[in-house]
Amino acid sequence: MRLLVTGGAGFIGSNFILYWVKNHPEDQIVNFDALTYAGNLENLSSIENNPNYKFVKGNIVQSNEVDAVMAGVDTVVHFAAESHVDRSILGPQPFVLSNVLGTQVLLDVARKYSVKKFHHISTDEVFGELELGDPNKFNERTNYNPRSPYAASKAGSDHLVRSCFHTYNLPITITNCSNNFGPYQFPEKIIPLAITNLLEGKKIPIYGDGLYVRDWLYVEDHVRAIEAVLERGKVGETYLVGGLTEDIPNIEVARKIVRLLGKSDDDIEFVKDRPGHDRRYAVDWSKIKNDLGWEPQHDFDAWLEKTVEWYKKNQSWWRHVKGGEYQKYYEKQYQKS
Ligand code: NAD
Ligand code: TYD
Repeated sequence: MRLLVTGGAGFIGSNFILYWVKNHPEDQIVNFDALTYAGNLENLSSIENNPNYKFVKGNIVQSNEVDAVMAGVDTVVHFAAESHVDRSILGPQPFVLSNVLGTQVLLDVARKYSVKKFHHISTDEVFGELELGDPNKFNERTNYNPRSPYAASKAGSDHLVRSCFHTYNLPITITNCSNNFGPYQFPEKIIPLAITNLLEGKKIPIYGDGLYVRDWLYVEDHVRAIEAVLERGKVGETYLVGGLTEDIPNIEVARKIVRLLGKSDDDIEFVKDRPGHDRRYAVDWSKIKNDLGWEPQHDFDAWLEKTVEWYKKNQSWWRHVKGGEYQKYYEKQYQKS
């Protein structure tokens, strides 16, 4: 099988490619990525000489560049996106460009080449927020109600992908997953930001009252969910993917990281809240469990500890990433109000 992976130099895409090369060595993978600030080929240095793996630098909004890599592809696995909510609040346009227009370009070219499967990676953020204490979780029938430019752009992309199935019979599948954590995550997201800040002797910035809740999914569990959908998923279907945590507030996640690094709660500071901050996400993953036999296997505490160890061992990776453009972003995002 020949796979075209978009956004394969980012956090989840590179974890997917490393997993796929190891577990499906007979398949050929083309990694198509624009190498934005979030793309890093160092993540894939261990397989760069593998004859079944090829990197092509290109942008999903450019039809000619997408056309040049789509011929002969059986399966598209579409990760490429602008992915950080805070950056979408500072400037929404790149999110609309890459996430909405870029997805449509891919769909158009995938139709031209009659690909056998187009799998779209999306987020639970398209459903908006849940209240604290609400017994409900998001499921495949939850209405869309995105509340940040990032979430709105991903919602737009989901609708475009689904419309291609209904209108043109493009064989699509979609997964909407919760917050991932694990190796190679860009240190703008809360878990790697917290770990690397503490390793640099800085504090963890916690937005608002710190009582916001995310559903934490270890990245390898997410990758296995995508594998299950590619192998056994029903064309046209959407599957929600979540983790094993039950409502851990951000402040508690920060305290766990503080303890793992032998620091104190004084290394946590409360900062100005994010506008439109979604209070709680929680995912009901019973459909993918019942239909495809997938369930998360990585316990949060044990794999948070392993993730902390990974960032301790791979300091050159994140110190390199935290230079230059990142510093400018950090100053702008965390300036004192
Ligand atoms: P990331 O920001 O780490 O990586 C995104 C990758 O896409 C980068 O390598 C970047 O260079 C590439 N890219 C961006 N715009 C591009 C363009 N126009 N053309 C080609 N390449 C482009 O993101 P991630 O955390 O790995 O997320 C991957 C996917 O998973 C995204 O679609 C995101 O919306 C979704 N998702 C992520 C999470 C999470 O917790 N990280 C949760 C749910 C869904
Ligand atoms: P983030 O990792 O940005 O993911 P998302 O917004 O996509 O869920 O944020 C996770 C949670 O952590 C979210 O409730 C916002 C909060 N947060 C902070 O409290 N401080 C920070 O510096 C960041 C980046 C996030």
